[in-house]
Amino acid sequence: MVATLSYFPKWAVRPFAAPYVAGESVETALKVVSELNKQGFVATMDILGEYVRTPEESYIIRDAYQDLFRQINEAGLNSNVSLKPTHLGMEIDRALASENLQSILSVAQDTNNFMRIDMENSPYTDTTIAVYRECYNNYSGTGTVLQSYLKRTAGDIQSLGKNGFNCRICKGIYNEAPEIAFKDKEEIRLHFIEDVKALVRSGSYVGIATHDIIIIDRLEAWLLSENIPKELYEFQILHGVPMGDRLQRLLASNHKVRVYVPFGEAWFDYATRRLKENPNMLWYIVGNIFKS
Ligand code: FDA
Repeated sequence: MVATLSYFPKWAVRPFAAPYVAGESVETALKVVSELNKQGFVATMDILGEYVRTPEESYIIRDAYQDLFRQINEAGLNSNVSLKPTHLGMEIDRALASENLQSILSVAQDTNNFMRIDMENSPYTDTTIAVYRECYNNYSGTGTVLQSYLKRTAGDIQSLGKNGFNCRICKGIYNEAPEIAFKDKEEIRLHFIEDVKALVRSGSYVGIATHDIIIIDRLEAWLLSENIPKELYEFQILHGVPMGDRLQRLLASNHKVRVYVPFGEAWFDYATRRLKENPNMLWYIVGNIFKS
């Protein structure tokens, strides 16, 4: 059933998408963030979509992100913004993406906020890091993402990790070749933990982006045992992924927890990707539909 989701009409997938996507409009997404803030979470907002095909499309997305920073500011919400380089034209031309990102970053600066550049698949790793550096030279309220499944990541931490580097660590979501990526789940988990420790030791700020309870438990214990100040890291999760009471316990222990809140008209592809990752969600949702 999950494998065929992409062929379903949108109306049929919409109920399955609901937990993962904070609506199609920015207004709805801002309400979701407001609710999360009330519950003690901070957020990062993402306009869904990737791989624009023309410069004109990339300008529409650039403008939408600039508006988003202004709207977050006007609403007084505690949320920064995450964006994908190919959504801003990276596949067309690196210079185009860099210009777009820098003009979004100038609005982030005007509104005293932060812009995170998500990491996409490996053809874009070098260019994303290069564009991140260009952005950082203009305004330090920006950061990027490193993926613990990539064999190069320890080296990237060595060259980027320093005071002022704000890095999200995640496992990595793309299907990469074994020549460049670890494939074993336990190996990826161990690298994730080591990457976070290396970043913390380098004085970087770390976003620990995972739903893997084993990693969360081990890192929470390590951070506490090393007396790492809570201002140097945060936990991050995707909106809608069931986490039991683990997030409440993190909040109760005064850890910062950030929820990644994607929204927009391109919700269909995003939601089907999430459901393919975790087919159990489908039965959980179907169960709820029949119970209600
Ligand atoms: P793992 O896949 O082992 O999941 C642990 C448990 O959580 C699973 O048992 C499953 O039940 C549940 N779960 C995990 N993901 C789920 C999902 N999507 N839906 C439902 N249940 C799920 N990747 C990338 O390449 N570039 C990026 O920029 C980012 N950015 C990013 C931001 C944030 C805040 C998060 C949390 C994740 C990302 N990712 C990402 C995705 C990341 O690389 C990874 O693919 C997913 O988080 C799944 O890996 P976990 O570490 O959660 O472990």
